[in-house]
Amino acid sequence: MKAKILEKFEALYGAGASLYASAGRINLIGEHTDYNGGYVFPGAIDKGIMAAFKLNGTDKVRAFSLDYNEEAVFGLNEEDKPAQAWACYIFGVCRETIKRGGTVKGFDTVFAGDVPLGAGLSSSAALESCFAFALNDAFGNNIDKFELAKIGQSTEHNYCGVNCGIMDQFASCFGKAGCLIRLNCKTLEYKYFPFNPKGYKLVLVDSCVKHELASSAYNFRRQSCERAAAAIKKNHPEVDFLSDCKRVWLDEVRDQITPEDFLRAEYVIGEVQRVLDVCDALERGDYEIVGEMMYQTHFGMSKLYEVSCEELDFLNKLARRVGVTGSRVMGGGFGGCTINLVKDELYDEFVAAAKKEFAAAFGHEPKIYDVVISDGARKIA
Ligand code: GLA
Repeated sequence: MKAKILEKFEALYGAGASLYASAGRINLIGEHTDYNGGYVFPGAIDKGIMAAFKLNGTDKVRAFSLDYNEEAVFGLNEEDKPAQAWACYIFGVCRETIKRGGTVKGFDTVFAGDVPLGAGLSSSAALESCFAFALNDAFGNNIDKFELAKIGQSTEHNYCGVNCGIMDQFASCFGKAGCLIRLNCKTLEYKYFPFNPKGYKLVLVDSCVKHELASSAYNFRRQSCERAAAAIKKNHPEVDFLSDCKRVWLDEVRDQITPEDFLRAEYVIGEVQRVLDVCDALERGDYEIVGEMMYQTHFGMSKLYEVSCEELDFLNKLARRVGVTGSRVMGGGFGGCTINLVKDELYDEFVAAAKKEFAAAFGHEPKIYDVVISDGARKIA
């Protein structure tokens, strides 16, 4: 990837580029908890975005996507938003940096990625944090890492139409090889947990399903949570987020919110607790509990939060049957991957069964990714 990027950069824009990279992410547990002020437990992975980058002395950005084989040229003012969806991520990062008082001037870039798109591995956060990091470095803006993550998050909100939480961009900016990171999304306190479960592998099974309306469905979930939290706040003024709520407080407002909002909130309150339970279990080396919590999360995401789909439920059931320790839909949902904690000796059997049975049911094989927990945003050269 590196050689191709540099070759294209030289052909289009000349020599002398710097190289930056950033990563996609996995999340062991803590899904849809970030915008509810709860915990998440992600890590950056060995699949990401790489960009060659050089200032061009103008007030224009020239960006070339190797994956789309397309160039976008745009200015840096609000009205200069490019037509290409992929370029809006870079434009958004420029704008959000400028809004925070940072300097951004014209540059040339060629970039490519190996995060599978739509798989729930946050290719967009990888792209945002790669450019947030590159701009900060190239223009010496001295913006701290949390703010770089927020630049990516605000890009999603203001330029891409997704009201996401902070998890993906946080993982992508703070990722460290070999470590998962538990983040409290309310206080922004975080802790690195070395993650190297002896005798187990983390395996992603990509259903290759992508749902068109995922962004709006995601935003609706968030609104449900906010309505439920607002109803609870009337009885318990200290509540700012669902993560502040006790389960019984939700029961108190059962008649004041819709059954749908109730189910969404029920899921979130359970999930916030599960992250803590998983961290405790990890400290004891109890992977059976970790796995059981993953199955509980899947149940909640499927039946209460309703962000799973037939294909992902199928993969989850299959994992349970084969004896996989833990399995669940990962990321926002509505397609993408399951994340599976698999005993080494079960790996071959599980992968073979997943491929064969999924293909028989849905007409195509799922893709299998073995992930390595890796570093996040950085300068390579
Ligand atoms: C997407 C969002 C994150 C988070 C997850 C679900 O990846 O970008 O902020 O809400 O979904 O956990």
